[in-house]
Amino acid sequence: MRLLFLSVLCLLLAPVAGAETAMRSGTISPGALWPDDKGVHINAHGGGILQHDGVYYWFGEHKIAGDAGNRAHVGVHVYSSRNLINWKDEGIALSVVDDPMSDIVRGSVIERPKVIYNAKTRKFVMWFHLELKGLGYKSARSAVAVADTVTGPYHYVNSFRPNAGIWPLNLSEADKDPARTVVARDFETGQMARDMTLFVDDDGAAYHLYASEENHTLHISRLTDDYMRPAGDYARMLPMGNDEAPAIFKHKGKYYLITSGLTGWAPNPAKSYVADHIFGPWTALGNPVRGTLEQQAITFGGQSTFVLPYGNGHIFMGDIWRPKDAIDGRYLWLPIEWDKDKPVIRWYDTWNLKTLETPQ
Ligand code: DGJ
Repeated sequence: MRLLFLSVLCLLLAPVAGAETAMRSGTISPGALWPDDKGVHINAHGGGILQHDGVYYWFGEHKIAGDAGNRAHVGVHVYSSRNLINWKDEGIALSVVDDPMSDIVRGSVIERPKVIYNAKTRKFVMWFHLELKGLGYKSARSAVAVADTVTGPYHYVNSFRPNAGIWPLNLSEADKDPARTVVARDFETGQMARDMTLFVDDDGAAYHLYASEENHTLHISRLTDDYMRPAGDYARMLPMGNDEAPAIFKHKGKYYLITSGLTGWAPNPAKSYVADHIFGPWTALGNPVRGTLEQQAITFGGQSTFVLPYGNGHIFMGDIWRPKDAIDGRYLWLPIEWDKDKPVIRWYDTWNLKTLETPQ
């Protein structure tokens, strides 16, 4: 009886003790199980982080077990933290629904959700990549949801292919021929939009970056002042570069972009770019991974999703996907270091956030 009591006590205390250890040490272990405040592995894949009123909010895809987890059965999960180490489960920010007529019916694909705060409207605006149920990845749509409070509930607004009837700022006259380019083919109906992220610049202007043109070319599209729609000016970032998984950040007045190649859930070499202006032109800086040939070839087994400013530097956030058991996907967070003026990423089994608190 006494033994049983002690075992139950140990079970009850285990997750809490784990969380305390993490908080005391302030360390991050890429690829490990990351328990939330209930001791459950964090379920926020393809995610991004919004810092609001001194709290970090991590939004991501809620996955379920097995390969069914590659479709949306629950929605977008949100967690909160004051230290990026101890995460409180704040529940489902945006839920799928059972109405078969809804874009976000259970079984659709909801990927790479990102949330930004609009100070003018005081709304939290979520964008995500949506694939309509039963159509594989053919829909290639962007979707928007909105909330009055950061953790939600978010109310679904609409989905669309962005920038219908508008030419990119940097397309040549010759490329406006539908026989020549996908961007011209899709001019009337709107541009394909798959992997995506959002970015708010220092002046409050927000941008939507998405993999377009059959995943061959990323676009960057400015949003309206309320962040709810494309504003009408957009640019092709890396024409025919075959980039996806965009993660953008700003450092010393320049814009940096980290992407992956196109190999589905399988990892491939990361790529990095720099630009003086947000609409480009972008200059290739090569693979940001420093390490063994294997680590460079598969980006430590992960794929970029977001870059979070922290302290005096930045945290690279990626996903180590487990498509056969999606819920077991892991998180690849590593400090961004600098090799002269190139952002680089090295592997650490564990690393301390303090490394980013000293001047870079
Ligand atoms: C790679 C993308 O980066 C993921 O977000 C997801 O869309 C998979 N492809 C699907 O195969």
